[in-house]
Amino acid sequence: MFCTQCEAEGFRRITYYYDRPDVMATFSRVRLEAGKESYPVLLSNGNKLEHGDCGGGRHFAVWEDPYPKPSYLFALVAGDLGKVSGTFQTASGRQVELNVYSEKENVDQCDHALASLIKSMQWDEERFGLEYDLSLYNIVAVNDFNMGAMENKGLNIFNTALTLAKPSTATDDNYERIESVIGHEYFHNWSGNRVTCRDWFQLTLKEGLTVFRDQEFSSDVGSRPVVRIENVKSVRGRQFIEDAGPMSHPIRPESYIAMDNFYTSTVYEKGAEVIRMYMTLVGKDGFRRGLTEYFKRHDGAAVTCDDFRAAMADANGVDLAQFERWYTQAGTPVLTAAGAYDAAAGVYSLTLSQACPPTPGQAAKEPFHIPVVVGLLDAESGAEVVASRTLELREASQTFTFDGLPAPVVPSILRGFSAPVKLAPVKLVHEPALTDDTLAFLAAHDTDAFNRWEAGQALGAKLVLDTASAFAAAGGAKPDAAVELPAPFLAAFRSTLSDASLDPSLRAYALVLPPLSELSQAMAVIDPTNLPAARRAVRRSLALACEQELVALYDSLAPPPGAPFSVDGAEIGRRRLRNCALGYLCSLPDGSPGGRDAVARAKAQFDASAGCMTDRLAAFSCLVGKPDDSPAAAERAAAVAAFHEAAGGDALVVNKWFMTQATADRAGLLDDVKALVQHPDFSWTNPNRLRSVVSAFASSMEHFHAPGGAAYAWLGDAIEKVDKINPQVASRLAGAFALHKRYDAERGELMRAQLSRIKALPGLSKDTFEVCARSLA
Ligand code: PHE
Ligand code: ZN
Repeated sequence: MFCTQCEAEGFRRITYYYDRPDVMATFSRVRLEAGKESYPVLLSNGNKLEHGDCGGGRHFAVWEDPYPKPSYLFALVAGDLGKVSGTFQTASGRQVELNVYSEKENVDQCDHALASLIKSMQWDEERFGLEYDLSLYNIVAVNDFNMGAMENKGLNIFNTALTLAKPSTATDDNYERIESVIGHEYFHNWSGNRVTCRDWFQLTLKEGLTVFRDQEFSSDVGSRPVVRIENVKSVRGRQFIEDAGPMSHPIRPESYIAMDNFYTSTVYEKGAEVIRMYMTLVGKDGFRRGLTEYFKRHDGAAVTCDDFRAAMADANGVDLAQFERWYTQAGTPVLTAAGAYDAAAGVYSLTLSQACPPTPGQAAKEPFHIPVVVGLLDAESGAEVVASRTLELREASQTFTFDGLPAPVVPSILRGFSAPVKLAPVKLVHEPALTDDTLAFLAAHDTDAFNRWEAGQALGAKLVLDTASAFAAAGGAKPDAAVELPAPFLAAFRSTLSDASLDPSLRAYALVLPPLSELSQAMAVIDPTNLPAARRAVRRSLALACEQELVALYDSLAPPPGAPFSVDGAEIGRRRLRNCALGYLCSLPDGSPGGRDAVARAKAQFDASAGCMTDRLAAFSCLVGKPDDSPAAAERAAAVAAFHEAAGGDALVVNKWFMTQATADRAGLLDDVKALVQHPDFSWTNPNRLRSVVSAFASSMEHFHAPGGAAYAWLGDAIEKVDKINPQVASRLAGAFALHKRYDAERGELMRAQLSRIKALPGLSKDTFEVCARSLA
């Protein structure tokens, strides 16, 4: 098949044009002609005006798009495709034909995408009063695509990884992600297409807003706290890291060499957090008023982030002048809180302070306008005595008071992650910082589900970081090391394990320790040996301490016999929690009876779950993590062979097979990865396949950063090779070296050596050049 991709600057490669987003034009006749047999389907934007035969085995189609659009939204597709179809009737009565196209052998995997599209259309009408404006909506799934998906007017083009799903090949996470990305591209029809960007510096105008809209969609049709936790994990695990390195930029960047390098977590995810702060400041109804005003003022135009801010301010009569700094200043602000209770006066005062570390080109920062949502809990009972309220921090430091409080309180600060900042542990007067006991108290009592999860994570983070320091001080961890678990932490873990009244997804997220990407941010110098060892040791110790409870939980969550497979929230939660328990059990020492039982459970689950990729993949990763000298090595080898065989060549399943192995927690991983790229199914030219091995491996802290730099050299060679094939993917791979200043001197030197070598390569793409140059600056 043939298909186009024009964002950001691709249309100029098709024809001469003013290829910039502020040039909006109607493309009123687009004629495609092709061989009839090989390319029976001919698509472009808008509506089909004519089609017919041209003789000689060829045919044609003419399309028109009545809405003015920038050239980056232009698209063409020609291929031999199958489809599933549906219809949607808009609130004002327009009948819309919906099609999801894919290669013919995959049409049985398009139903979830179609259902998600219908849900999205319904939701945008209900939540924001926004309707679709054409009589046709086409989605085409393609297997070779650099990005996730693309919002071309009336003709979205999607990565197959974000379209195709059936229970035996897609995980619950895949199902959820497909729903949100289908929503994202649909929501672009207003936030991006009807109102677009004046220039590419404004990218967050459409992306931050549309990510926010897809997050709200997922929250409204699913569980709000679960979605919030997932989104915040992603901001912390990706955006905070970007912000701490040489690529740090404001959500509205100031310069670029290759625009494709700025489709970043900062522009997308921090951009969405900035939009969310408007909603926190003006309220849900006020936000809808502001958005309506924005579309009313700018429909059909190419505008700026300032126009959006002005619409929000004017529709709500508020002053958002200082809020502009979120668009101009890079970096993650650090918020510090200090509380004091005056028993005689019954007053609690909370002093909030902010500071933002320097970022490239920005040494000093002005204070941000930060909405800090705070609630107060009774220090004895945990009951909420002051409900959530939004404090507006505008100065470097400000004190807020709460009166009428007869007894001491514990503050719950930054509820729902009300701003994209780091919250330093709260200092209480007479106490140095939040103690484990207070965190455990919040983890048990906070009435804000997000902050309850957050407190538990903070407890876990402290323990892993302390363990890592202890390992470093002792000259390294012993294999199968266990650690002593502080009582408040263990008690909190146990109560989550056994509290059947809690949402299973929330329990699963509460039981999992923060990821290495997050934990490493708290280290002055990242220790890629002792940090992973510490996290593993804490996991193992928890499994040892709670083995019986974990086994009971695992067994109690077995699939109800005979029940049909379903991906509703309850079933997803059940599988998520059960697989979390399995993961803990599989961290028990390999030779121990518990460890052997766990492998037997994983193997049984693997064998029994051919029809459910979520369970299959969870069991597969547990087995793949087993080292060659483990008693479970045979199970591992058998699972690797069986998984590949059962994939039957399904590209997305084979990607999972590669990715699980490339991210396995096993010594000698680099050798495994070198073998994987020799496998006949590996490809350097298919972006999904390439990412499932090369990017996946580069994200593994312990093995990518193994002493000596062999993995750095291997990745350097891979980047050199890929840059000649696909600069956009190569430049992203080069991002793996961005944190070179955060590692020790030796590793830093080795990473810089790769960056310098790549930067000097003759014929290097401007994409990869820019990442290397910025990283070395
Ligand atoms: N605009 C797309 C989105 O976020 C992303 C994208 C950018 C896709 C550039 C392709 C090329 O929905
Ligand atoms: Zn987008």
